[in-house]
Amino acid sequence: MKSLLIVYHSQSGTCARLARAAWRGAQTEPDIVATAVRAWDADTAQLAEAGGLLLVMAENSGALCGAMKDFLDRTFYPAIARELVLPYGLLISAGNDGRGAQRQAERILCGYPFPAASEPVILRGEWCAAHEQASEELGQAFAAGLSMGIF
Ligand SMILES: Cc1cc2nc3c(=O)[nH]c(=O)nc-3n(C[C@H](O)[C@H](O)[C@H](O)COP(=O)(O)O)c2cc1C
Repeated sequence: MKSLLIVYHSQSGTCARLARAAWRGAQTEPDIVATAVRAWDADTAQLAEAGGLLLVMAENSGALCGAMKDFLDRTFYPAIARELVLPYGLLISAGNDGRGAQRQAERILCGYPFPAASEPVILRGEWCAAHEQASEELGQAFAAGLSMGIF
């Protein structure tokens, strides 16, 4: 079994809903175990067990939300020490932009170094059914790629 680790942070509940939808999508792949963990609780040991990493977060003040930055700060050197290389995906919720969070995340993840498994998905505006569907599809596509050994 391969595993997809979904790390998320949510202030209002929006990103938590998107992370759950991505988890649901990933679970539809029969040989994938998907786990969703809050960024505050996620650690290097969980990264070491994962086959892929999906980060679900908001853009706050033009940057990564603080909890996701904290997760990346805590795991950066330990992941390098273990020579971890995980394909990653980004699911960003934003009021009207999201590109600041995307740039920052891509720059940090490049240093691990983790390769991008797909184009980042930025969902702008209030939560809606289309965002839920896009998140579910991203989770499913990422899991399918892992399952087939594409990444
Ligand atoms: C303190 C704060 C700062 C924000 N800054 C930005 C921003 O710079 N750009 C943007 O597009 N949205 C911004 N937003 C909107 C959030 O990205 C958006 O509401 C997101 O869905 C929040 O998800 P969450 O509540 O699940 O963490 C901000 C929201 C808050 C609370």
